[in-house]
Amino acid sequence: MSELQAAAKPLTSTKSGALHGAFSVPGDKSISHRALILGALAEGRTEITGLLESEDILCTARALQNLGAHIEKAGSVWTVIGRGLGGLTSPTSDLDFGNSGTGARLMMGVVAGHPVRVVFTGDASLRKRPMARVLDPLKRMGLNIEEEGSTLPLTLCGTSNLVPIAYRLPVPSAQVKSAVLLAGLLASGETSVIESEKTRDHTEKMLAYFGAHVSSGPDREGGVRISVEGRKTFKGKPVAVPGDPSSAAFLVAAAILCPGSNVLIKNVLINPTRTGFYKTLSEMGADISFENEREENGEKVADLRAKTSQLTGVEVPAERAPAMIDEYPILAALAAFAQGKTIMNGLAELRVKESDRLAAMVAGLLACGAKAESRGYTLVVTGLSRVRGGATILTHMDHRIAMSFLVLGLAAEEPVTVDDASMIATSFPEFRHLMQQAGAVIEESEDRAQHPRGTASQ
Ligand code: S3P
Repeated sequence: MSELQAAAKPLTSTKSGALHGAFSVPGDKSISHRALILGALAEGRTEITGLLESEDILCTARALQNLGAHIEKAGSVWTVIGRGLGGLTSPTSDLDFGNSGTGARLMMGVVAGHPVRVVFTGDASLRKRPMARVLDPLKRMGLNIEEEGSTLPLTLCGTSNLVPIAYRLPVPSAQVKSAVLLAGLLASGETSVIESEKTRDHTEKMLAYFGAHVSSGPDREGGVRISVEGRKTFKGKPVAVPGDPSSAAFLVAAAILCPGSNVLIKNVLINPTRTGFYKTLSEMGADISFENEREENGEKVADLRAKTSQLTGVEVPAERAPAMIDEYPILAALAAFAQGKTIMNGLAELRVKESDRLAAMVAGLLACGAKAESRGYTLVVTGLSRVRGGATILTHMDHRIAMSFLVLGLAAEEPVTVDDASMIATSFPEFRHLMQQAGAVIEESEDRAQHPRGTASQ
């Protein structure tokens, strides 16, 4: 069992009035992982401001420290003293990635190119998640796996003789793309990843910013080819991490649902590979706007304003899934209050997230008296003018399921309890405090202690 697992912590949300105020959400999770990792592979000093200090990111920081990188925090600045390409060393213990698929998968790419033997492990949720998607290309490059298997725990043996590959992604996954590109930094020649559907591009953007030899352009056989030249050193650089649009989504959704609300969320990342949710909300008629758009460290940011709105159901095209993959749970919660049907297509990847999010959302929505069904990889939610609520939701160790149903409870007729909110700390530790500051009623449930982790999520 991962040492990060603690006692289950139920929380309850209750119908709330207007939400108001100006807020900052914590740093983007994807960019935070990458800033630490590239800082550790760079030469010299990388100073990071706005780093997300959540469990997932702390796992990546601890893993890099265990591999010999020097990482420290002074005030609000995190400093990484890089080891240079190939400079990481054997860890003294297993690397525990807790709940984080991103941390585990990206670090597999890093470990592949170092002559080290590393045990990768994680919590009960991460130990169920598929790793073959990353291991297959890394094995082709030279990574060795001690025992056969494709779920954690796994013992991986890296090498200083990685060979470059050209790899067409079989699933639209930025984690797989990033793992292969990170391994490619240490391979002897040019490694390419070809993606048919564009996924978040933070790895290639940050590699370019750090001065690594990376390029991207159309592939002859279709899609986009991203290539990295191996064994070319790069230097540490300052990184300012913008606010996470996937965390902002919960506050935006709460403002849309609670009558009379008007909230401003400052400094949110608006990279187009991440804004599918906001595009969908606009199509649904939400009163949201991006103000003061600007660019920082090669990434676009803006202040986001959201006001109470009556939404209308729409059909979300499958092609948009990579740009809003983490936002379907909160979109499904919003859709429960929209006029008409919201049809979300192309959700195969939702089955293999921190939980089977398609199943968890349908079960939770039905338990709350909403109308929802899954048809293959499509989720259909039929909006109602009133959603009953009054249920305890099984969150299956999934932070986004927990936050989505707590937001739903802010507008339901009866309070909604989530069986375990402790996982929210993996991505958005300030969630409850920030929501309460805005005016949302989210409290500890009286029945705490009655739901030890595991029993409620079987
Ligand atoms: C992430 C990529 C996405 C996303 C995850 C973060 C990343 O996963 O769901 O929360 O930082 O690369 P996939 O790449 O597996 O779709």
